[in-house]
Amino acid sequence: MVKVGASILSADYGHLKEEIKKVEEAGVDFIHIDMMDGHFVPNLSMGIGISKYVSEITNLPIDVHLMVEHPEKFSLALAEEADMISFHIEACKFPFRMVRLLKESGVKPIIALNPSTPIDTVEYILDYVHGILVMTVEPGFSGQSFMNPMLKKIDKLKTTILAEGYDTEIYVDGGINAKTAPKAVEAGADCLIAASAIYNQEDVGGAVKLLKESAKF
Ligand code: DX5
Ligand code: ZN
Repeated sequence: MVKVGASILSADYGHLKEEIKKVEEAGVDFIHIDMMDGHFVPNLSMGIGISKYVSEITNLPIDVHLMVEHPEKFSLALAEEADMISFHIEACKFPFRMVRLLKESGVKPIIALNPSTPIDTVEYILDYVHGILVMTVEPGFSGQSFMNPMLKKIDKLKTTILAEGYDTEIYVDGGINAKTAPKAVEAGADCLIAASAIYNQEDVGGAVKLLKESAKF
């Protein structure tokens, strides 16, 4: 069963509690929090305090997506609330060290890859991580279109994971909606993340259900 995570980047921040309750009731599997530093990506978003707030609202797993330089600076501060932390391979010099740090703090490590980053960059660390997050848009903003060439990347990654017998999960983030979800799942995605396809809809709960239904490939 493919899991669906709601990215609160497109939520109404003035009503975050209600926005999270809506997706929780509709059956999302986890909450995805996008943190941006204005350096790694050309945008600023939420900070560390948000994960604490979200963890007080919901019992759903919290997945923090660090789109920041030097992600190792923030892992300990986030460890208490985050169940999963995704950091970018492009921003981390010593990913094995980072993965070890996260695991020691009880956090499941996920490595994120920008669209142009090949999967070879994670070949030797694949067995050490909980997941690989394949970005299907350039990170920094919600509401962008799914990049179809990434389907080949997901497929290649899935083939490697299966051939090696690893249990590494493939997360897909960016431009996911009821049309693109089945394509990503067919290519090998285990978990899908969506912001605008959930929160920019009038019926947020209905949007989650539609997405979950469309992901049943
Ligand atoms: C992009 C973020 C995504 C974003 C997805 O930088 O990492 O998680 O919120 O937004 P949509 O689903 O609208 O493409
Ligand atoms: Zn994200």
